[in-house]
Amino acid sequence: MYFSSIFPSLLLSGIHISVCLASNSTTVNADIKSISTLVTSLQDDVQYVTAGIPGLAWALQVQQDAIALDGMINQGAKDANASAAFGGGGSLDIGLSLIGLQPTITRTLQAVAAKNTSFGELGIIVQYSLAQLKADTDAFASSVVAKLDSLEGGIAPGVIADIDKAFETAITAYENAY
Ligand SMILES: *[C@@H]1O[C@H](CO)[C@@H](O)[C@H](O)[C@H]1NC(C)=O
Ligand SMILES: *[C@@H]1O[C@H](CO)[C@@H](O)[C@H](O)[C@H]1NC(C)=O
Ligand SMILES: *[C@@H]1O[C@H](CO)[C@@H](O)[C@H](O)[C@H]1NC(C)=O
Repeated sequence: MYFSSIFPSLLLSGIHISVCLASNSTTVNADIKSISTLVTSLQDDVQYVTAGIPGLAWALQVQQDAIALDGMINQGAKDANASAAFGGGGSLDIGLSLIGLQPTITRTLQAVAAKNTSFGELGIIVQYSLAQLKADTDAFASSVVAKLDSLEGGIAPGVIADIDKAFETAITAYENAY
């Protein structure tokens, strides 16, 4: 009885460890690419949001995009946590990917801010989603920075500060918009 219950749990923890070790800088870099694709989708969809009923389907689509994006950001944090230090080549790849991601995020947040009145009553949900995305992005960033070499690890916080500033501007745009 005792052994039959402990043995499967040992097996499961063994599987868990091997899954963790499968994550490395290649995984995290692929996550950043996926995040970039999802950010671009959100930017594309937010263009179609208009005030009132005609824009409602797009407003809901943007909400779906935000949920998918948040899930990917959290997956990225999990993979970064489960990865060994990225090393020289991995840190360079990821550093460059983060630098490439920053303007995409900033443009998207500007597009979301520009729709602050179009979302109407849903503005409160947009503002909440932005705050959630910002918090999860910060958590992802700190998981990634912990695995970067010192050169890239020194550059990344500036990139992340720019992303945070763009989030704050967008969140502020919704302060009085609903
Ligand atoms: C990461 O792991 C995959 C296989 O799990 C491997 O193909 C890839 O080369 C590894 N990347 C690095 C940078 O070690
Ligand atoms: C990653 O690790 C940090 C620090 O240990 C922890 O706070 C965070 O919850 C972890 N994130 C995920 C998604 O597992
Ligand atoms: C919408 O955001 C703009 C800045 O992007 C701001 O100037 C404007 O006051 C905001 N509108 C409302 C109703 O809060």
